[in-house]
Amino acid sequence: MAPIYARITGTGSALPERVLTNADLEQFVDTSDEWIQTRTGIRQRHVAVEGQTTGDLAFLAAQRALEAAGVKASELDLIVLGTTTPDIIFPSTACLVQHRLGANGCAAFDVNAACSGFVYALGIADKFIRSGQSKKVLVIGAETLTRMVDWSERETCVLFGDGAGAVVLEASSEPGIYATCLHADGGYKELLWNPVGVSVGFKDEPNHGVRINMSGREVFKVAVKTLDSLVEETLRAGGMEASQLDWLIPHQANLRIIEATAKRLNMPMEQVIVTVDKHANTSSGSVPLALDYAVRSGKVQRGQNLLLEAFGGGFTWASALLRF
Ligand code: COA
Repeated sequence: MAPIYARITGTGSALPERVLTNADLEQFVDTSDEWIQTRTGIRQRHVAVEGQTTGDLAFLAAQRALEAAGVKASELDLIVLGTTTPDIIFPSTACLVQHRLGANGCAAFDVNAACSGFVYALGIADKFIRSGQSKKVLVIGAETLTRMVDWSERETCVLFGDGAGAVVLEASSEPGIYATCLHADGGYKELLWNPVGVSVGFKDEPNHGVRINMSGREVFKVAVKTLDSLVEETLRAGGMEASQLDWLIPHQANLRIIEATAKRLNMPMEQVIVTVDKHANTSSGSVPLALDYAVRSGKVQRGQNLLLEAFGGGFTWASALLRF
């Protein structure tokens, strides 16, 4: 039997209108535009306004992806949504978005893999399509991470932003996704975590103690090393050489991490999609936001080979090699 591939047939994204620049941050936290740009490459981030949720951003990104693909919501047979900032504990944000789109009846669930959430979701959706279980799948990465930010903590508050991206995947006899690699190591949980939940207890402090805890320097080191081996593993799994890649679409956490991965692949920065300057780290939203920007700006073209990768809390790390 001829293999079935999952092909991306449409992309979409959404950002909150409110923009917070590095200069804005200088007004209320002890930092500088120069420090943030030199250490991270970030210039600004989008921040959800009061009442604006992950589901709102996911819904908009999904509508745009469906429109680009020419697929009706009622045709979907699966929605997989990567997020660590769901609107409510349950139902899942995927279910909330499904109902708003009018896709009622199809399978819908969230994936929590921190910043690797979208690439995990893509890997899962790929398996559903390859197995013949699903034909048209909506994959979303959406976050309102700034809700978990302590705005007085300069080590973390300068790094994050809000946003969402989505793709429509369809079954095809043409490639498609060649390979996905998903990994996790829970042994690293305390380097990057938000240790509050239904069993741990919310605290009597601002934001109920819901805040990101991060050992930045340690995360940086493990991320670079892990992504180096991940991109090599992914090329092997897809039977491709680095020289055959047209674009690297990395997780947008820190420009220096992105540059290290590009160097490992011997790819010039002209072949790397960078949006961290405009969006900061939007966790699960980061890779699909960068992909949609790359498609809509005309950089990424049909038939080109893309390598997507992400790294996040858990630790989790994941990649996808595909022909667009
Ligand atoms: N503004 C100004 N100074 C700051 C600052 C800020 N926003 N945040 C930290 N500093 C200070 C520190 O206090 C430290 O001061 P000291 O030398 O007097 O102690 C100094 O800057 C250097 O801190 P350090 O942590 O060594 O900086 P760094 O070069 O490692 O950069 C990160 C910090 C967080 C940008 C970097 O480690 C990083 O990006 N790590 C990965 C984070 C990440 O990607 N997380 C998400 C993964 S999905």
